[in-house]
Amino acid sequence: MKSRILSILILGLIFSISGFAQSQDKIPEVEALLEKMTLEEKIGQLNLLTPGGGVATGAVVSKNVEDKIKAGKVGGLFGVSGPEKIRIAQEYAVNDTRLGIPLLIGSDVIHGYRTTFPIPLGLSSSWDMDLIQKTASIAAKEATADGINWNFSPMVDIARDPRWGRIAEGAGEDPFLGSAVARAMVKGYQGEDLTNPATMIATVKHFALYGAAEAGRDYNTVDMSRVKMFNEYLPPYKAAIDAGAGSVMSSFNDINGIPATGNKWLLTDLLRDRWGFEGFVVSDYTSLNEMIAHGMGDLQAVSALALNAGLDMDMVGEGFLSTLKKSVEEGKVSEEDITVAARRVLEAKYKLGLFEDPYLYLDENRPESDILTEAHREVARKAAARSFVLLKKEGSILPLKKNAKIGLIGPLANNKNNMLGTWAPTGDPQLSVPILQGLKNVAPNAEITYAKGANITDDAELAEKINVFGPRAEIDKKSPEVLLKEALQTANNAEIIVAVVGEATEMSGEAASRTDITIPESQKKLIRELLKTGKPVVLVLMSGRPLVISEEMEMPLSILQVWHPGVEAGNAVADVLFGDYNPSGKLTATWPRSVGQIPIYYAEKNTGRPEPASGEFEKFKSNYLDSPNSPLLPFGYGLSYTEFEYSDAKASSNTLNENGEITISATVTNTGEFDGEEVVQLYLHDKVRSITPPVKELKGFKKILLKKGESKTVDFKISVEDLKFYNANLEYVFEPGEFEFFIAGSSVHPFTGTFTVEE
Ligand code: NOJ
Repeated sequence: MKSRILSILILGLIFSISGFAQSQDKIPEVEALLEKMTLEEKIGQLNLLTPGGGVATGAVVSKNVEDKIKAGKVGGLFGVSGPEKIRIAQEYAVNDTRLGIPLLIGSDVIHGYRTTFPIPLGLSSSWDMDLIQKTASIAAKEATADGINWNFSPMVDIARDPRWGRIAEGAGEDPFLGSAVARAMVKGYQGEDLTNPATMIATVKHFALYGAAEAGRDYNTVDMSRVKMFNEYLPPYKAAIDAGAGSVMSSFNDINGIPATGNKWLLTDLLRDRWGFEGFVVSDYTSLNEMIAHGMGDLQAVSALALNAGLDMDMVGEGFLSTLKKSVEEGKVSEEDITVAARRVLEAKYKLGLFEDPYLYLDENRPESDILTEAHREVARKAAARSFVLLKKEGSILPLKKNAKIGLIGPLANNKNNMLGTWAPTGDPQLSVPILQGLKNVAPNAEITYAKGANITDDAELAEKINVFGPRAEIDKKSPEVLLKEALQTANNAEIIVAVVGEATEMSGEAASRTDITIPESQKKLIRELLKTGKPVVLVLMSGRPLVISEEMEMPLSILQVWHPGVEAGNAVADVLFGDYNPSGKLTATWPRSVGQIPIYYAEKNTGRPEPASGEFEKFKSNYLDSPNSPLLPFGYGLSYTEFEYSDAKASSNTLNENGEITISATVTNTGEFDGEEVVQLYLHDKVRSITPPVKELKGFKKILLKKGESKTVDFKISVEDLKFYNANLEYVFEPGEFEFFIAGSSVHPFTGTFTVEE
């Protein structure tokens, strides 16, 4: 086989020396290979399978994978891990096919590989891009050590509907922050050099607008104006592509009448022609075949639709494999377009270094040295602590004293199964540190007693749906009454109650939409009863989404939101509860008062009849009879054990011209009793423009550390580049006029200054 690859390389060299290559951008080795390939072999490269049977373990979905690889009918595999297993598959491809083309090996490494980091919504709440990039590069190091060379992440879908379970997998609602996170993750996964065996190709998903599914129901329809797409939903995908992401995954949803997987406007006009994307596009899992259910025709028709739209690789459904040849014969697709798709897949393999060495990612010694190391767990612990958001402080109970007498209560308080969060298939819940253990580790002198107190839910039907990947919300053999009684005994013997409550991991994630996003009633009841003891209560709240916690926000208790914290859950929660780390996370998605307010997001537009500034109801204004418009907790919000004061916000000049720059700054002072980090945020408002502007937009953020009593001036440089938007003709422009600004620790603050952009 080596000699076959060598001959390809030599051919490529001859081609490039003789100037035979068709274009400067083309890779001679790939072109040489394409020259040799039959139509069937090219189609084979477009087929992505997940094995069952002979090759490896994994979800048994694709049939006869081994035979198909040997027959040259497979371009890549996913759902298989470990160098030994992958080597077997790679050897089939390399030794048993005519041209010996190696396989891409994909995986869903969403928030860490074996070292599971907090869910992405949690990670984004850290607003710490270096840290996020670090988690992605650790994920890449671990995954590649296990043979993976292609990752199905980052998920950059903007989500403004917390009913949608997959809000857990992204960076929340904002395009500016979402773009920063997208860049950090692509850089983390791909590093500087894709042929480095510790890096892997990143996949931007789900292209596009998957997070805007109607009614927050997964896979649902999206119908959206282009102006809204370009300004609010597309920026993070573009940012990831501009950062060099090697592949894109098409989404399940329909976009303005054409499913993304068969949407030529999306996959070619926008992605390739407008954005210049040069990598390859893979479908989501059977999303090609699902276009039959969307009403786009039979398998042959939807496969042709997808190929003609610009899809390069078909995940699991085998529509390309089984119909494209016939479509070529019938003139429904061209062989040239199949060659183009095959070229893109082959180029990815080339860039990964697989033509040079098909076994580059299959070093059997690496798993031992590179996966789940102590250093990686340390980063997981740090990342988790930084992802937590202090939602409410009651009195000065926090941070807890390390010798306190604590009643630790709740169904998530001593539970390993729900620490990792959704979409952590390569992690192992049993490796995670439960909260009880973490508290004991960090405060060995504290007196901690534990009681479960309640089931995650008492609803057996719901529990069954949540337990689809294993026990997450088991209903206890003891009755709810007995559980509660035990909890109250524990509570009464303690000085302080820490109640760990919220969602099980599979209450968010894929196909886990909810219409009621409150804490389940079984746990709400527990919280009410614990409060009646009169002891101070700290709620440690876990969830994969913003929850409706209007009732709990009214209660005299403290609330620390910890998402699903990952493998170091307990240690990180203890670090924060005991004050070894002062919480600094800020919400990246708005928390509504009720589901009736959804979709809700801070960068909304004004109506012609805005709600009165008082927030009081007025007839013929844009408001509700039964609720204020404002959210329960706004975007950017999060408290600290200390206090921060903002002062002296100003712009370096009142005017900005096309080639100029101004500096907007403010002084931030730590006026409280603890050292702490603060996420300083800059928001702008374009007062008048050719399409209606949002009431405010995040345009900058910096995370700073301030010692107790310390002040720092934080500044943001702004040029017209930062003020551009897509106008009604989808041109990316700035328009002269007045802008307002404020700098604060959340998105809710009055504007404190203005500047004018000159003609
Ligand atoms: C379906 C999910 O939508 C996608 O995010 C994932 O990458 C694929 N399945 C493959 O597991």
